[in-house]
Amino acid sequence: MRAPLKLVCTAHFSLLVGILGCSGGGESPGGSGGTAGQGGAAGDTGGVPGGSGGSDSGGTAGMGGATGGMGGGASGDGGNGGSDGGSAPWPTDVPSDTSEEGIRAFLEGKQYMSWLFQTDAPRPREYQTSPHDRVRVAFSERLVTAKQAGIDGDPDTYPAGSMAVKEMYDEEDNLVGIAAILKMKDGKGLSTWLYFCDAPDERCVNGRTGPFYGQVSDCNFCHGEFIYTSPPGIE
Ligand code: HEC
Repeated sequence: MRAPLKLVCTAHFSLLVGILGCSGGGESPGGSGGTAGQGGAAGDTGGVPGGSGGSDSGGTAGMGGATGGMGGGASGDGGNGGSDGGSAPWPTDVPSDTSEEGIRAFLEGKQYMSWLFQTDAPRPREYQTSPHDRVRVAFSERLVTAKQAGIDGDPDTYPAGSMAVKEMYDEEDNLVGIAAILKMKDGKGLSTWLYFCDAPDERCVNGRTGPFYGQVSDCNFCHGEFIYTSPPGIE
């Protein structure tokens, strides 16, 4: 059973989010009613991946070489190759080394550049409560597949290996920070998620400076079991 606050915090209605104060530090939301308006930009690009049916992992397999060698680490995934009953093997397009250094190397090495992006160019925030401001968001293959399957109706079931990367930009579109959310294992709760964020000016969390790594409750407070952004063409 989920706490009611979290339920509301993870709802799509940014207005509610504002009222309930998900913004932690608090000052940002102000009273502006028109927050959702910008959403159109993403939705309108439609068509692109909607029917892309194939979730075959062939395309991204090449990246395995880059990260594969570091194996194990914090994730303790000894049986990577083996198909143990339920859960699928760890995907090759997300970090295999999930230590802080591993995640940072993956992000700074831009190993997500082959992923599907929500927009080509940076965009303004879609929710007034977002501390991250001007961004560009990319989705790992498993997250795309989950979103296509309409998983936001039941967000507890994001499959392990789902990952979103968020680049943060300044007004001149210089990259100034980066954040990531990685689903570490199936199931629900903070222990199934890994957060990373390194950005200036409290753009990770209102009122706090980073970097942040791990099962960060400040991130989870807003994100809970939820990845807000979806690939183009998906609600
Ligand atoms: C005050 C609430 C809040 C906090 C705290 C917060 N986020 Fe977010 N985050 C959001 C919102 C809202 C969005 C969607 C904003 C948008 O699309 O413009 C978002 C988007 C993201 C995304 C892109 C994927 C998605 O869910 O849309 C990542 C990655 C992310 N946040 C990481 C983090 C990390 C890591 C932390 C902690 C260091 C964090 N966030 C803290 C509200 C928050």
